[in-house]
Amino acid sequence: MNFTKNILCIGAGYVGGPTMAIIALKCPEYKVTVVDINEDRITSWNSDNLPIYEPGLLQAVQAARGTNLFFSTAISEGIRAADIIFVSVNTPTKTFGLGAGMASDLQYWEKTAHQIVMHSDQSKIIVEKSTLPVRTAEAMERILSENKKDIHFEVISNPEFLAEGSAVNDLLEPDRVLIGSQQTESGRQAAQAIVDIYAHWVPLEKIITTNLWSAELSKLVANAFLAQRISSINAISALCEKTDADVAEISFAVGSDRRIGSRFISASIGFGGSCFKKDILNLVYICRSYGLNEVADYWEWVIKMNEYQQERFVKKMIKEMFNTIVGKKIALLGFAFKANTGDTRESPGIYVAKKLLEEKADLVICDLQAQDNARKDLAGFDGRVCFEPDPYRAIEGAHAIAVITEWDLFTKLDFKKIFTMMEKPAFIFDGRNILDHQRLFQIGFNVFPLGKPSLTHF
Ligand code: NAD
Ligand code: UGA
Repeated sequence: MNFTKNILCIGAGYVGGPTMAIIALKCPEYKVTVVDINEDRITSWNSDNLPIYEPGLLQAVQAARGTNLFFSTAISEGIRAADIIFVSVNTPTKTFGLGAGMASDLQYWEKTAHQIVMHSDQSKIIVEKSTLPVRTAEAMERILSENKKDIHFEVISNPEFLAEGSAVNDLLEPDRVLIGSQQTESGRQAAQAIVDIYAHWVPLEKIITTNLWSAELSKLVANAFLAQRISSINAISALCEKTDADVAEISFAVGSDRRIGSRFISASIGFGGSCFKKDILNLVYICRSYGLNEVADYWEWVIKMNEYQQERFVKKMIKEMFNTIVGKKIALLGFAFKANTGDTRESPGIYVAKKLLEEKADLVICDLQAQDNARKDLAGFDGRVCFEPDPYRAIEGAHAIAVITEWDLFTKLDFKKIFTMMEKPAFIFDGRNILDHQRLFQIGFNVFPLGKPSLTHF
């Protein structure tokens, strides 16, 4: 088949894979190729055992793969053939040198810019899909224009707002698509080419075009605002536990105000995921580099509050279990940073597990999708932690259960049966407030929800 455009995506990760699958599905006249340096990942994308778990993704991939969607490690060939290149490589927090622990590590991103220059022999549109510090496009333009081939690269910012666990739906029905470009003739033309892709399925009024810097910064700000809401309600959950107020009732009452809205104000054990913390740290770093220390301090507290929430959860577990958990078996229900994903990056489960292990508890981790990642996260604790996908087997003989991830499965368990299988007194610490606390109390459990009165038999 003759395709009208060649689209390439560099980076076959959580964003590159799903985003390109949906573009391929919705734009049959475009050829979409996703490349990566990681051969195993590409092999998985070419199998039915995809490298990431995402509801609906396998069906989307299967519908387009081999027709107009291709996964490959042939990066230079891909670059040569492409009209439009999306760059969706990882941009983690820097772990070394200047800005360590705060700034974005742009080494993967910069490497792709050089690869693009090296292997291109015609003008192309380069789309920043990765989340990047504001004004990164300037650096990208500089690298790309340092070519002696007399070809032009137009840089576009098209940040991604999908959330893991709902990626396919978020891509099919986004709240908005954001496309930033230079406000020049060639910049506007390039932006239009990207608008044309999304216009295949996204209503035009949901496609927002801005200048480059607004698009780059909007992405960091969107994540900062979302995380800030979670830290705000989590801060209130601590106050609720001192005053017998109920944080769920507060979320409902406060969120019923349409100016506030009901989403992203569910108290939890803390937010995780690969991006909230990294993007806020990056925002803080950028603010400090411009001398905006008050602004930096303000956003930094969103992260500090998140750390406080996780610490608080573990301290409460230890205190309520009579200040010692040495040798006690504790079942962690869930390990992923949220439900419907196997991703454990920055999961509060990692912090909780490590702290409990430091206190010499024996852990069983029960998370069907996140088992492999959990194993890697807890490497080195062999013998003290085991992994059991069956919740009943995981809980058998345990002193306590801690809910880490809000998997629907955990709400459907037979807790009467579970109670009989546990050591007494039996404790439940619900880090997601997903269980029926009154019922658990009636069964005989000592129940510790988040931001709600504890229900104890002693
Ligand atoms: P990821 O780590 O899952 O995937 C990145 C991929 O890029 C990896 O497979 C890596 O091997 C590949 N890569 C790195 N350098 C390469 C190179 N030179 N050539 C070819 N491949 C290369 O990361 P992700 O979660 O998909 O995130 C990518 C970007 O998107 C980040 O900037 C992130 O902040 C942003 N983002 C992520 C999400 C999310 O839900 N994960 C959502 C929105 C935005
Ligand atoms: C988040 C954003 O929601 C996406 O828009 C963004 O594209 C993405 O980051 C990114 O840039 O990577 P994601 O991290 O996949 O998506 O998942 P969220 O649904 O945002 O959840 C993040 C964390 O917040 C999870 O640990 C979740 O359990 C927690 N959360 C969420 C709460 O504790 N309470 C809430 O009310 C909502």
